[in-house]
Amino acid sequence: MPITLEALPRRAPHRLEPMTSQENFYDSVGGEETFSLIVHRFYEQVRTDDILGPMYPPDDWEGAEKRLRMFLSQFWGGPKDYSEQRGHPRLRMRHANYPIGITAAERWLQLMNNALDSLDEGTLSDNQRTAIWDHMLRAADMLINANPDPHERG
Ligand code: HEM
Repeated sequence: MPITLEALPRRAPHRLEPMTSQENFYDSVGGEETFSLIVHRFYEQVRTDDILGPMYPPDDWEGAEKRLRMFLSQFWGGPKDYSEQRGHPRLRMRHANYPIGITAAERWLQLMNNALDSLDEGTLSDNQRTAIWDHMLRAADMLINANPDPHERG
């Protein structure tokens, strides 16, 4: 049977895996301290957000913060705590219980953008910020799983 392009998944599952060239990125941006700060500033806003807040488990904010921090640290070449504690990321599967339309994805990105912007140039250079942002954009796009948009306001 000839393999056609159409038969291939549009997004190969390994697409968001880290590459060897990213191995030192984690250290170059300040390691755990920097990723903790990004994720903390992000969740600070999520907690009171009218769209995202109610989607998260109300009694486990610290756990949620830790899981995202471990995931991002590992993705950018840091310790493999995420895989050790949670297994394969399978982000699409892990978000399947949360209906995510464009509105929720845009809000997530907006709050993440605020969090990244809150770090000064000395911590995160423009290039580093862009690299992290690009990954966030691609991941958020991949996680949209609801149509019609459950949060759209007419
Ligand atoms: C598009 C909008 C998004 C929404 C509405 C959303 C929502 C959620 C919610 C409600 C959870 C459960 C919280 C918990 O108990 O851990 C979660 C978990 C998680 N999210 Fe998202 N998320 C979004 C985008 C992203 C993106 C872009 C990433 C990666 C860059 C990401 C990475 C994760 C990770 C690593 C977990 C923990 C998974 C686990 O180990 O259980 N999310 N997300």
